[in-house]
Amino acid sequence: MYKNVIEIKHPLLQHKLTMLRDKNTSSKDFRDLVNEVSMLMAYEVTRNLPVKDIEIETPICKTTGKSLSGLDVAIVPIMRAGMGMVGGMLNLIPNAKVGHIGIYRNEETIEPVEYYCKLPSDISDRLVIVTDPMLATGGSLRDAVTMLKKRGAVNIKAMTLVSTDVGIKEVQSHHPDIEIYTISIDAGLNEKSYIVPGLGDAGDRLFGTK
Ligand code: PRP
Ligand code: URA
Repeated sequence: MYKNVIEIKHPLLQHKLTMLRDKNTSSKDFRDLVNEVSMLMAYEVTRNLPVKDIEIETPICKTTGKSLSGLDVAIVPIMRAGMGMVGGMLNLIPNAKVGHIGIYRNEETIEPVEYYCKLPSDISDRLVIVTDPMLATGGSLRDAVTMLKKRGAVNIKAMTLVSTDVGIKEVQSHHPDIEIYTISIDAGLNEKSYIVPGLGDAGDRLFGTK
């Protein structure tokens, strides 16, 4: 059991994850599945958004209902692969603003390399949801959260599809305050630091670049 890690075991998500893992799934289907899975995960990651009472009138009578209040959301994908998760989340949180962080892994050193950062100007007032399908060694997410904190973000959650124990520990050793939502914690990493069994290179599968 991990503190601050929410492994979502919903059957719909598990079913779709198996399709994502399948190497015979086409890029188009992969994109559609990432979109669907992200929408379902957005439901879970927004579970504790604050609500307030508001008065409304139904066709029958006056009543009090709940309305979202106070806490705005920023979705921040780690490019490239995290961008595949944005559309599905916006379906559920249409008023969210979207920032972008560019980080790629150097293929030889496996160290993350930062190349871009553009965030909403009011990032410090928002719930920031960082998206990236893969949490492997944890370097990319660790550095993305550091970049966000340097720019004022304080309330940060991360959404990944597939994670590893070592990646989670790497992120949490630097950022114990952030919650990580994931569908699976896989067995580990291979000699090239790809997740096993994983789903391969998420960016390449999303964008058809291999
Ligand atoms: C992948 C993935 C994560 C990172 C995870 O990106 O989308 O950002 O690797 O690995 P880590 O936990 O070991 O840092 P990649 O470097 O392939 O870039 P891309 O999305 O542009 O293809
Ligand atoms: N990045 C990916 O896209 N897949 C992995 O398994 C590890 C890092």
